Amino acid sequence: MGGSDRKRKINLADDDDAASSLAKQHKSTLEARQSSSINPWTGRSYSARYQSILQTRLKLPVYQFQSKLLEHVASNQVVVVEGETGSGKTTQIPQFLVEVGYASPGKSCVACTQPRRVAATSIAARVAEEMDVTLGGTVGYTIRFEDVSSDETVLKFLTDGMLLREAMNDPLLSRYSVIVLDEAHERTLATDVLMGLLMEILPKREKGSKYGELKVVVMSATLDAEKFQEYFNGAPLLKVPGRTFPVEVFYTAEPERNYVEAAVRTAIQIHKCEGPGDILVFLTGEQEIEQACEEIRLGAQDMGKDSPELVVYPLYSSLPPAQQRKIFTPAPGPKVVGGPPGRKVVVSTNIAETSLTIDGIVYVIDPGFSKQKVYNPRIRVESLLVSPISRASARQRSGRAGRTRPGKCFRLYTEQSFYNDLQETTYPEILRSKMSNVVLTLKKLGIDDLVHFDFMDPPAPETLMRALEVLNYLGALDDEGDLTDLGRQMAELPLDPQLSKMLICSPDYNCSEEIVSIVAAMSVPQIFLRPRESAKAADEAKAQFVDATSDHITLLNAYAAYEDVPSEERKQWCWDNFINDRSISSAESVKKQLKGIMTRLDIPLMTCRGKSGYDTNSIRMALTSAMYMQVAHLQRTGSYLTVKDNQIVYLHPSSVIDGKPQWVIFEEFALTSKNYIRTVTTTRGEWLVEMAPHYFDLDNFPECEAKDDLVLEYKKLARRMGK
Ligand code: CDP
Ligand code: MG
Repeated sequence: MGGSDRKRKINLADDDDAASSLAKQHKSTLEARQSSSINPWTGRSYSARYQSILQTRLKLPVYQFQSKLLEHVASNQVVVVEGETGSGKTTQIPQFLVEVGYASPGKSCVACTQPRRVAATSIAARVAEEMDVTLGGTVGYTIRFEDVSSDETVLKFLTDGMLLREAMNDPLLSRYSVIVLDEAHERTLATDVLMGLLMEILPKREKGSKYGELKVVVMSATLDAEKFQEYFNGAPLLKVPGRTFPVEVFYTAEPERNYVEAAVRTAIQIHKCEGPGDILVFLTGEQEIEQACEEIRLGAQDMGKDSPELVVYPLYSSLPPAQQRKIFTPAPGPKVVGGPPGRKVVVSTNIAETSLTIDGIVYVIDPGFSKQKVYNPRIRVESLLVSPISRASARQRSGRAGRTRPGKCFRLYTEQSFYNDLQETTYPEILRSKMSNVVLTLKKLGIDDLVHFDFMDPPAPETLMRALEVLNYLGALDDEGDLTDLGRQMAELPLDPQLSKMLICSPDYNCSEEIVSIVAAMSVPQIFLRPRESAKAADEAKAQFVDATSDHITLLNAYAAYEDVPSEERKQWCWDNFINDRSISSAESVKKQLKGIMTRLDIPLMTCRGKSGYDTNSIRMALTSAMYMQVAHLQRTGSYLTVKDNQIVYLHPSSVIDGKPQWVIFEEFALTSKNYIRTVTTTRGEWLVEMAPHYFDLDNFPECEAKDDLVLEYKKLARRMGK
């Protein structure tokens, strides 16, 4: 376990000469390339835009570091790179590698992983522009449900989760010559698993191996890089010589009651009183961000026509790409010649903390919160909660103000709170996640001994046990813990194990067509819109789709209605029906892709839609067949109790469920002021005992009202079976 018995395998400098000759070769390749006016990737002359971006690129700190980096990559299998955000790591280092010949079209490729989809797509677009090539050709990206790459791709940005998926079908990652693990300091679940996997792959892909030597570049923005160095058997650590300017940090004297309001107030105050420079505000999610943007705009309007112009841009993951790109628009100029320049405010989630760098930021507003995943293995609930950030995050945030000149950071909490209440670093996600998906992936990758898998921070044994148990109940693992045929199929689907199982089993209930629509609609941001100012009209629109026994079927009804609208009328239809047009159209593309995988896995498409509509019982049975572990039972008190975990929960106000059915299955457990279950479907005790007697095993069942009901169901079942 851990690092103690890890094989020390470093390419020591036994071939120094080879390395230095490689470095010379690199240098001349680069010089030749940089003096040429023909783009080797396209065979065309470089555009004027290329030349102008090149000038800014050459000024990035990472350029002075190019030959040193390439030298180390030439002589080591793993290199750790640490550098301030904005120094050019993400956009330039993968390009250096491609330029000196680590990749060639149709043969090998350089991969650069990103924890976030937005970062993968937006950086790929930027790099394609920098290299003067088309996106999807020489430079591409792959995120879940979206692959914009081709055989010609030599540089691919992808989410860490997608690279992990690719490893399932290509266990030695043979397509890649170099893997750049970017943003490693974020320690996402997928990055951690990838690192463990790379530890297994690296010895199998040393120099001279069938697929050539695999190189790994681990990039991190924080000072914790030694930890990666140690993990990768003492790989060399290189520091990008960054330059940053001092940032003055201010705290509030008293804790803030409402951090969104405080952030808005601070932004307007800066606009009124501080010198030129753009503002970056950190908030936690779409709703908050849109609200703050609106209020900042209003605040600026109140300042009157004579004050400098203020433009406000939101940034969060579900924002369409065209709008995401707006954050890079330079701030407006002065209103009158010689007057004070305008200002840009970007209100962003954590993504602007290290993944994306916006030039021109001089002021940072940090309320001290972000949305973080929290997992409680005891009640098997994983939720996203607004939680305090760590001191390391707070320092990263303030650093964003000092990239181009001295800046200011306004922390909307007290100095005492910074030192006493915030943790030094954020816990790695692996310690805060449910593991069923990861365990299934690892099993599929052929890693059976999870206890000895080389995790940088091993997850809690209880969490692993829970994951194995869930997968066993679902039939993905047998009692020995080995992958079953069902499990192998489940691993092929880019979904949570329960959803995979639901899709695979749906033909048994004659409704795979309906289940794939439901799964697709659940994989995208909320389809039903309910703006505060027109809540009543929105509720009326939703009422047309309601099936009072099921939120899932209600979703299906809306989705199916959308599919029936001719494509040129869909936008208007969405508008009229309070449907999120972007979400539902991405659901359509998700569905198309899932259907592709279903065909490949021989899962037949069957519909239960007849003349009089759907056979909704079939759909509810298919849902129950996979979700029976997320079931709640009505108590005499009127609330629900989750089965086995005994949590008191309530139906979420957004649920369409009529009355209070005895048994419900639910998709999501939302921990807010009250424990709500969301996206709910009515089910039946008789289905539960028929479909999952191994789970509803009365010998191992806590005494409760649910148990009394189940006893009756088992008796009825026995009678039906003629016993
Ligand atoms: O990865 P690191 O934080 O070291 O830097 P980077 O993301 O490679 O960014 C380097 C430079 O490229 C920054 O100055 C960004 O502002 C710029 N950039 C840009 O102008 N437009 C983008 N879409 C992405 C980066
Ligand atoms: Mg970066």
